[in-house]
Amino acid sequence: MATKITPFAISALLVVLSGSASAAPEGIASVYEDSFLVGTAIKSSDLTGNLPAKNSLPCSEFNALTAENAMKWQHIQPAPGQFNFAMADQLIALAQQCDARVIGHTLLWHQQTPGWVFEDEQGNPVSREVLLARLREHIHTLVGRYKGKVYGWDVVNEALNEDGSLRDTPWRRILGDDFYVHAFRFAKEADPKAQLYYNDFNMYKPAKVAGAVKLVKQLGDAGIKVDAVGMQAHYSLFYPSLSDIEQSMKTLRNAGVRIAITELDISVLPLPDDAFSGADITQSFAAHPVYDPYVEGLPATQQHQLAELYQQLFALFLKYADSVDRVTFWGTTDADSWRNNWPIRGRTDHPLLFDRNGRPKAAYEAITRHID
Ligand code: G3I
Repeated sequence: MATKITPFAISALLVVLSGSASAAPEGIASVYEDSFLVGTAIKSSDLTGNLPAKNSLPCSEFNALTAENAMKWQHIQPAPGQFNFAMADQLIALAQQCDARVIGHTLLWHQQTPGWVFEDEQGNPVSREVLLARLREHIHTLVGRYKGKVYGWDVVNEALNEDGSLRDTPWRRILGDDFYVHAFRFAKEADPKAQLYYNDFNMYKPAKVAGAVKLVKQLGDAGIKVDAVGMQAHYSLFYPSLSDIEQSMKTLRNAGVRIAITELDISVLPLPDDAFSGADITQSFAAHPVYDPYVEGLPATQQHQLAELYQQLFALFLKYADSVDRVTFWGTTDADSWRNNWPIRGRTDHPLLFDRNGRPKAAYEAITRHID
């Protein structure tokens, strides 16, 4: 593939020639601006004090921001009726400062939802009516507050098993099999113009993506348009295959469903077992040095493999650019990635575009330099 001079390369050159940092590089988002948004997840510590500066990486590189944790139920409404919007407000302010879109994450999930949501004062499961009322209040309050300010919401997160069937969760047990329809309906009522997404991991698996297409169709039958299906894309150097990812993208495109890559990262670390995949936060394995080989830094071979894989993935996203609306990385620098703590706590992973000092890695160069 021919090397092309990109807007990033030109602006980087201008910075060098002018000897000043005022002409900030336009970043990866500008490289792909004719094809799709390129986003990142903002960690909570960036939303608790002073906002990251305008020339910080999240601002200068990306044009879509998702709160990694700050908009989850546990943070927004930890106790009945006690809403905490401080960090979410900061995310909106950061996005305004960076001229970026805000992606809201997430309205209905079986994780990070406090126990009180599903229980009465005696600790017994609440009735369908009570839970529906709680879900409605939560979504109307949160989505309503940011009406016109959030571009799109991950309305329902991880509702599917690996075989595409509905996951057994308190939401489903109490509300019934159409629990997700209510979440979408409430979100649509609260902000009719916001985009609405279904978001899940392991979407490269045919059965799981078929389950997502079924959800989208059922929502369509209920009069609700799902604007995109989120393929989370928590990948590894060892799985999945590009052809499996492409097959799922094809399935979505053929079904008329738009795609968002919502949580991209690529772990370089050994897998704790051969069958391991996904992003289920309840999975964990014991630490052992053999599973943590790159504490002192990523060797050139693995650095190159990571760059090559990112390059191939972005070539694939460009191939499907007519269906792909956004590609969001799950974090900006390796230091901040959740993958350092999952599925084994305390490892040193290198899954993102920027190293622990915020310097662009070979992967960054590969996907900003080689686009046709
Ligand atoms: O902030 C506290 C800190 O005060 C405390 O000392 C520490 C003790 O463990 O915990 C810290 O909170 C952690 C938080 O991340 C911030 O680092 C939580 O324990 C931990 O559970 C939480 O994990 C997040 C996880 O979702 C669960 O909400 C990860 O950051 C976040 O990257 C991850 O994101 C999910 C997506 O929402 C959905 N898809 C899968 C993806 C990866 O699991």
